[in-house]
Amino acid sequence: MALSRKLVQQRSSVFGSRSMSWWRSVEPAPKDPILGVTEAFLADPSPDKVNVGVGAYRDDNGKPVVLECVREAERRIAGNLNMEYLPMGGSVKKVEETLKLAYGENSEHIKDKRIAAVQALSGTGACRLFADFQKRFRPESQIYIPVPTWANHHNIWRDAHVPQKTFRYYHPETKGLDFAGLVDDIKNAPNGSFFLLHACAHNPTGVDPSEEQWKEISKLIKEKGHFPFFDMAYQGFASGDPERDAKAIRIFLEDGHLIGIAQSYAKNMGLYGQRVGCLSMLCEDEKQAVAVKSQLQMLARPMYSNPPVHGALIVSTILGDQELKTLWLKEVKGMADRIIGMRTALRENLEKLGSPLSWEHITNQIGMFCYSGMTPEQVDRLTNEFHIYMTRNGRISMAGVTTGNVGYLANAIHEVTKST
Ligand SMILES: Cc1ncc(COP(=O)(O)O)c(C=O)c1O
Repeated sequence: MALSRKLVQQRSSVFGSRSMSWWRSVEPAPKDPILGVTEAFLADPSPDKVNVGVGAYRDDNGKPVVLECVREAERRIAGNLNMEYLPMGGSVKKVEETLKLAYGENSEHIKDKRIAAVQALSGTGACRLFADFQKRFRPESQIYIPVPTWANHHNIWRDAHVPQKTFRYYHPETKGLDFAGLVDDIKNAPNGSFFLLHACAHNPTGVDPSEEQWKEISKLIKEKGHFPFFDMAYQGFASGDPERDAKAIRIFLEDGHLIGIAQSYAKNMGLYGQRVGCLSMLCEDEKQAVAVKSQLQMLARPMYSNPPVHGALIVSTILGDQELKTLWLKEVKGMADRIIGMRTALRENLEKLGSPLSWEHITNQIGMFCYSGMTPEQVDRLTNEFHIYMTRNGRISMAGVTTGNVGYLANAIHEVTKST
């Protein structure tokens, strides 16, 4: 029965002051630097506006893309499967196919059942699950994170209560790898430290070590007894070939490391919102892998119980069917090639405008992002004067560059950088 107004007033005068104060101390959270850019872009009415902030692939008309292999997988799935819960560790078939991509089709480690792996909530969820595992089983450890890195890495390990250290990675003058700094920092870290490495297409810099440099890094990490954890959010997006983009991981495997990998299908299958990924950890033997997997599941259970089913079905349908897998490989290459083409076009346009600066790094860097070297003030001018939106660290998402806007973008970059 409805309470009379008088009774409600009486009750709120008794309980009101306490219940009203529950959230009074909560301040608004700071805006996410990446998602905030999209909000500002959407609010801008200018017809010239360009969004090169968001880390999601766009076609040459600037439109989001659903891959044909995904559409076909959806057609096959539709109406054919139930919606039961997946096991805590996710779809076994999807995990099996995912491991083959990272560890190799004929991996001995897979055959020997030495890999503990669970389906995760995309790359972010895989990193977070690992960070929680690290905290639970190595509570005294820290994580070494490259400078710079994807901003969310800091949030992930912070919320898992793992102390963070950094290592040198990017050299602002050369706009390339600070290899000497990186080597020094690996050497100087206490033996047995955890290192977070981007397997390919480093975000935000687009700077990856060469094969020779990876070999050197692997050797040093081995000598120091460090634990390498790979975040592989862009397999296939760097070179267009997922095999080639797994090179760093294969080098570490050959050198006999025990490694961890976070994999994501957000970018390379365009499954951003499906949240489908994988966390795997190579163990000493099958028994250890069984134990580690059971503990990963134990971490997942009170957080989300079990992962979502639809994205996993899409992935296992595509990778489990030779025809669809071949189509996927062709489509990944198509996305990577379009981005590589836009790098060339942006650089050529800037050079044609007579820019006094070197823009070689645009084509030297790889993957979705170009770390342009522009200052926050120059980025502000791009936004305020030209309606071009990107993060203030100067990161350009090459996926947002199209044949239609590359000339406009180059011109605007030239205008804000020509007097530096
Ligand atoms: C380096 C890196 N790791 C992980 C992710 C996670 O992406 P998702 O959680 O969408 O798979 C991203 C996405 O931008 C990324 O750039």
